[in-house]
Amino acid sequence: MKVLIVGSGAREHALAWRLRQSPGLTALWVASGNGGTAQIATNLNVSPGDVEAIPKYAKGLGIDLVVVGPEQPLAAGLVDRLDAAGIPAFGPTQAAAQIESSKGFALELMREAGVPCPEFNSFQDETLALSFLEKHSEPTVIKADGLAAGKGVFMCRTFEEAASAVRACMSQRVFGGAGDTVVIEEFLEGPEVSVFAFSDGERLSPPVAACDYKRLGDGDEGPNTGGMGSFAPPDFWNEELAGEITRTIMEPVIHALARRGTPYRGVLYAGIMLTNQGPKVLEFNCRFGDPESQVILPLLVGDPLDIMAACLEGQLADTPVEWSKRNYAGVVMVSAGYPEKYETGFEITGLDADEKNTNIFHAATRIESGRVVTNGGRVITVVGSGESLAEARDAAYHRVQSIGFQGASYRGDIADVEARTRLWLPDPAAPTG
Ligand code: AMP
Ligand code: GLY
Repeated sequence: MKVLIVGSGAREHALAWRLRQSPGLTALWVASGNGGTAQIATNLNVSPGDVEAIPKYAKGLGIDLVVVGPEQPLAAGLVDRLDAAGIPAFGPTQAAAQIESSKGFALELMREAGVPCPEFNSFQDETLALSFLEKHSEPTVIKADGLAAGKGVFMCRTFEEAASAVRACMSQRVFGGAGDTVVIEEFLEGPEVSVFAFSDGERLSPPVAACDYKRLGDGDEGPNTGGMGSFAPPDFWNEELAGEITRTIMEPVIHALARRGTPYRGVLYAGIMLTNQGPKVLEFNCRFGDPESQVILPLLVGDPLDIMAACLEGQLADTPVEWSKRNYAGVVMVSAGYPEKYETGFEITGLDADEKNTNIFHAATRIESGRVVTNGGRVITVVGSGESLAEARDAAYHRVQSIGFQGASYRGDIADVEARTRLWLPDPAAPTG
């Protein structure tokens, strides 16, 4: 099979690395890829968001399967265009991808499917949103309805914080049209988990879970980022929880989309908070996560090409999907100044060291005169594996020590389970009542 992966991050490098292990793979392209994918596939100089050009390239190359990594091309209807051109594509259609591209759509769908989620209200009018907030003094989460690259979410403890978030979205329009509709949500507390399952439109594979880190600094300090690290499986993950999430969250949503005539084929990603009242959905995404892919794709047992083909053909029931019991930790190394301003073009050294139980997935890298250099903010994910999470974490950080580029930084608390638990446990010193 000739395969084209769409995307250019570490998720796509991990997909390329995993697909390379498929006996059925004969040739692999990545649009547009990075310095890592260049070493195991052919990079195509076409933007992942160019939904007009990608079907033409795919046709020209005789591609048998397109695998779409990021959400933007899915939301823009890339899979629909590939379908129309007769090219099989792994990923949901534009209609089904609304589960991520519109928070209002996802919340209505969850209401219809009876899926537990926070209390919420949507507003298209700033005055109405503000007067709602005046009547509700409890902490809230304010969200821009559309795609805002992970930045359109505000955790607000006071009225003032909430009101300025609403104004930023609606009158200041800092997210453009994505903030014209605002969702005001109940503030949930508990450990957070990303859950992934393959879907063929009717059925789901067993799920796999990972935890990610969104803030820049240790202890979840600092600004939000595209993701600073991840680990899998979470310490609290077990079959009972996996079964509960499948039954109460994943299946009802897949069945509701099928009933609506817009079946979901691809990977469904649920961002879930494990609250005192059970698992509740914070968001759905229409794709693999980043940086979660870097720690869950190594867990996938079996042939990913067979599994993806089964999703497209409605044959998942006949294609068992298994996840191994190993542990993986992924540490993202970023450029100095990320997520604000940073320089690029610095040589990355130490990438070729052959350390057992480690793997490097490139994101913002490029090859320049035979050297790998930085090409953006989130540069690489360094993954370690082991029999335990502690072993995986040690392997990843050991490998990180051997890699250098000017201004490199990273979090020191990835996959440190005790440190993570302290983040969501109530502060015993805090006043109550
Ligand atoms: P989202 O883009 O909706 O996933 O939100 C980004 C992050 O904000 C989530 O991963 C959570 O950490 C946090 N978050 C979102 N919604 C809520 C909520 N209702 N209660 C508490 N935290 C939330
Ligand atoms: N890990 C967050 C995301 O992929 O959206």
